[in-house]
Formats: sequence, structure tokens, C-alpha cells
Amino acid sequence: MRHLMSPLDLSVEELDELLALANDIEHNPVKYAHACEGKKLATCFYEPSTRTRLSFESAMLNLGGSVLGFSSADSSSAAKGESVSDTIRVISCYADICAIRHPKEGAALVASLKSSIPVINAGDGGHQHPTQTLTDLLTIYSLKGEFSGLTIGLCGDLKFGRTVHSLIHALIRYANIRFVLISPEELRIPDYIREDVLHKNNVPFTEMERLEDAMPELDILYMTRVQKERFFNEEDYVRMKDFYILTKDKLTLAKEDMMILHPLPRVNEISVEVDDDPRAVYFKQAQYGVYVRMALILTLLKWR
Ligand code: NCD
Repeated sequence: MRHLMSPLDLSVEELDELLALANDIEHNPVKYAHACEGKKLATCFYEPSTRTRLSFESAMLNLGGSVLGFSSADSSSAAKGESVSDTIRVISCYADICAIRHPKEGAALVASLKSSIPVINAGDGGHQHPTQTLTDLLTIYSLKGEFSGLTIGLCGDLKFGRTVHSLIHALIRYANIRFVLISPEELRIPDYIREDVLHKNNVPFTEMERLEDAMPELDILYMTRVQKERFFNEEDYVRMKDFYILTKDKLTLAKEDMMILHPLPRVNEISVEVDDDPRAVYFKQAQYGVYVRMALILTLLKWR
């Protein structure tokens, strides 16, 4: 049995197979409409979510399976003091596979150690968010055709943004990738990623503060929200929240075929006027999240 805690839990070959399966699902949905009949997915969400939880549920329903779960800690026995370990032991009796989101780093890993069903990390604090990365990879692969040789700008809250951490982990395994890390000083990428992931693997990257300076060289611009819920005080958040606002004006500096991704939800960091630009693919990206989660559920149930 396999779990998914980080994108690195999948080899590059397994990742490629998963993306190929997701691509087949997109083009031949009927073929998969009964693939998970009789199977149940539990979604255990201790933190707010729209896309991740609903795309997981939509994915399982598209496969002919069923879903059960909770969408906040308050509505589960966590409110009575139950541990994640105990909860997952019980959920293992009710479902065949589980997606879990929790505000604490490592919570999904703790759950996986006590689980008798595959556990998928649907976001653990400011740490990792591997299924968003699968979504991002499928989006890039489907719309750009490859990963190699891309210059990828990651912009915003690189400190707390778990989607950024997971995406870097996944992309460094492809050839000639270059990162431009665009953030205010206080929200720079954590040291463990700069040292243990980027430097250690000799991945070229630059860090800068001004989005305008980075824009002309980017093939992909990955915008992120300032992660309000991870700040220790409101004042710091308010100071940081509008640091970057991508406008039509700024986009005039970008390549004609640059792609703008965002895991969503968007707050102010992309002006709505940008939505109509053909380079803005963040709503398409949310759709890819369903195909890739269908592929993931199928694959983890097959490996069981
Ligand atoms: C992201 C998350 O939860 O980390 N959202 C998502 O799953 N699409 C990004 C965010 O909340 O900013």
C-alpha cells in the first residue's frame, strides 16, 4: 500500500504515468465512469478548502465511487480532543482511501502511520500540498507540452506557501529548469528548500523582490496568495497582503506565451482584468485538478 505525502513519493516514471492517465481520463471520461464502483473516499478536512475537497469528491463521483467526510475540525471529534491517529484508525473501517488536510505540518504523515487505507496529504500546514502540484504539473504539461527548459517564476508568499514548496520539489527532477523566486524579504523561501533542495541539486535560481524585473524572462508565472492563516499577527499580514498585484499593465512586460498559474483562492494578487488574457490559465488549472485526482485515486487503489 502507498500513501502520498510529498511529490517525491512518486518516481519521475510514476509521475509521468499518472499524468498520462489523467490525460486519458480528460479525453475519454466514459471509460472510467464505473472504475471505482463500490469504493469510498473519505475527505477529512481540518482546514478550509473549496477546490481541493470538492475536486477530490467530484473525482471520486466521476469514477462511480462514493464520498464521505467532514469539512472542518469543529464538525469532527477533533473538537472533543480526538487525535488524528485515532480518527484515521476509525476512518480506515469506513472508507477505502482518504484525503486529509490539517493545519499542522506532518499531520498527514502521522495519519498514514496508523492507517490501513491509502492516505493522501491534501495540505499539511505550510509544508506540502502534493495534489496541487500534480494539478500544476498536468496544467503545464497539457498546455506547454513539456517541463524541460522552462524558467518558472514563483511569486508571493514563498515562506508559508505549501504549493510552492511541493512544486519546487517536483520540478527539480526535470532537465534545465530555472526558478526565479519573487517575494518580499520577509516571505522568502525557507532555508531548507534553498539549501537542501535547490543548492544541493545544483538547480539554478535567483531571488528578487520586484515582479517587473523578473517578468520578461518567465515562461511560467506562478502567483500565490499571502497565507493569512499562518501569520502570527494581523499587522504583518496587512502590511504584506497587497505587495504584489498582477495587472494588465505589468503583463505588457511578459512573453506572449507566458502562462499565469495560481492554485487559487485569489485575493488581490491578480487583478480581475487579467482573467480575460489568454495567458491566464488558473481557472483551467482548477479543472485539471479533477482529472489528476481521478488518476491518483485509481492509481493508489490499484497499488493497494
Ligand atoms: C492552496 C492551499 O490550500 O495551499 N489552495 C488550494 O488548495 N488550491 C493555496 C492557498 O490556499 O493559497
